[in-house]
Amino acid sequence: MRERGGITYTYDSQGVKIRQGTAERVIALTWLFGAGHYARTPVFQNGDQWVEHRLSWYAAPGRLSLTPGHSLQPAEDLDKAGGITQSTANAQRCFACHKTGDRPGVHCENCHGAQGNHPTANTIRRDSSVAACATCHRSPAREYASPMPEVEDPLSVRFAPVGFLVSKCYQKSAGKFTCVSCHDPHQSVAASATYDKTCTGCHAPKAKAACPRALDCASCHMPKSTPAPYLTFTDHRIRK
Ligand code: HEC
Ligand code: HEC
Ligand code: HEC
Ligand code: HEC
Ligand code: HEC
Ligand code: HEC
Repeated sequence: MRERGGITYTYDSQGVKIRQGTAERVIALTWLFGAGHYARTPVFQNGDQWVEHRLSWYAAPGRLSLTPGHSLQPAEDLDKAGGITQSTANAQRCFACHKTGDRPGVHCENCHGAQGNHPTANTIRRDSSVAACATCHRSPAREYASPMPEVEDPLSVRFAPVGFLVSKCYQKSAGKFTCVSCHDPHQSVAASATYDKTCTGCHAPKAKAACPRALDCASCHMPKSTPAPYLTFTDHRIRK
């Protein structure tokens, strides 16, 4: 992979070799974040600093491209090509949401608590509130006051709770409508039409007089959007 500025990146199973003219830097890419449905982002340590790598691998095109939030200008030097230095607190946040102990991924105890390594239906501590999912799924950085957060900040669609919490469906359902009404937290997402029975559980056919269709509700009322190259999300603000 070659940037406009002339810097090249060569990857192998150990890491990346970055070259600029005759200068060269080899970096072991120690951690790889993301299950890879959309993307994988490498993170490495440089002395006592944590660095988020400049390039990520994207599933949609099946190739490397800029990590979200990194400069669109070509990297000026090998350091910049390595990536952006993160505060220790920030790097630890990546681990808090993406890893448990020394194992990658999200595990039982993230949601069921320490005793919940092998929870059974009897011993389980469960919290299926939106707030429980939002500890990882919402932007930790800001609050959205807007009734249309996706207009105020297109990238907010990445954080499903942001849109969901301002939906009339949620706000007028007295806490009975949550993420687990649609998603089994133990499974990958299913095709959008799978969720129709949740919608029709509240919206009886006659309420659909104003609605042209009886199938695949989410395809119109929860549209997909692509707020950054190669990243497509479902807008969870259910709306007309
Ligand atoms: C507040 C919790 C949180 C923090 C902090 C966080 N992530 Fe994530 N990350 C998520 C969630 C939830 C998803 C899935 C939804 C999405 O794609 O945004 C995700 C998705 C991703 C993906 C795409 C995963 C896929 O399946 O394709 C990558 C890559 C990623 N994060 C990397 C990072 C890196 C690197 C950091 C630290 C700089 C970080 N994340 C910090 C919660 C977090
Ligand atoms: C992302 C969060 C999350 C993770 C990770 C998770 N669970 Fe759950 N689990 C839940 C929630 C939330 C419920 C309650 C679901 C509901 O109310 O519909 C639940 C329910 C259960 C139940 C009760 C099922 C039932 O039908 O009542 C069992 C058993 C269970 N989980 C086991 C596990 C095991 C074992 C793992 C690890 C392999 C695991 N869970 C990982 C969130 C999670
Ligand atoms: C737990 C019950 C519940 C579920 C599940 C539910 N809704 Fe709603 N929905 C409501 C309520 C209550 C309102 C507000 C009605 C009102 O304002 O009179 C509403 C409002 C709406 C509106 C009008 C929104 C607006 O801004 O005016 C649409 C469109 C809608 N729902 C579609 C859906 C679709 C599509 C699904 C499934 C993806 C769904 N709903 C799931 C309860 C629900
Ligand atoms: C400990 C952090 C954490 C919590 C708590 C959490 N998630 Fe996640 N979730 C993630 C991360 C991280 C991903 C992205 C997959 C990855 O990179 O490992 C994800 C992915 C998902 C996906 C997408 C899976 C796919 O097929 O793309 C769904 C749906 C989901 N989570 C639902 C939930 C629900 C519902 C809850 C609450 C019951 C919940 N999550 C709680 C961290 C979390
Ligand atoms: C082809 C796109 C499409 C699909 C698919 C679709 N809808 Fe709609 N829906 C609309 C449009 C357009 C409106 C009217 C919006 C308006 O009044 O401005 C509407 C209106 C609604 C309303 C508000 C009705 C009112 O009284 O204001 C509800 C509730 C609703 N749909 C539910 C559903 C449910 C449930 C499903 C799945 C069974 C569904 N829709 C499938 C396009 C769709
Ligand atoms: C009314 C049903 C419904 C509810 C409630 C719901 N989702 Fe989703 N979710 C969907 C649909 C539909 C998709 C897209 C499925 C597909 O790919 O076709 C989706 C996709 C996702 C994804 C994959 C990334 C994306 O944006 O496509 C994540 C992560 C996710 N939901 C998390 C959540 C969380 C967290 C909550 C609670 C705040 C939640 N969802 C509530 C219907 C729902």
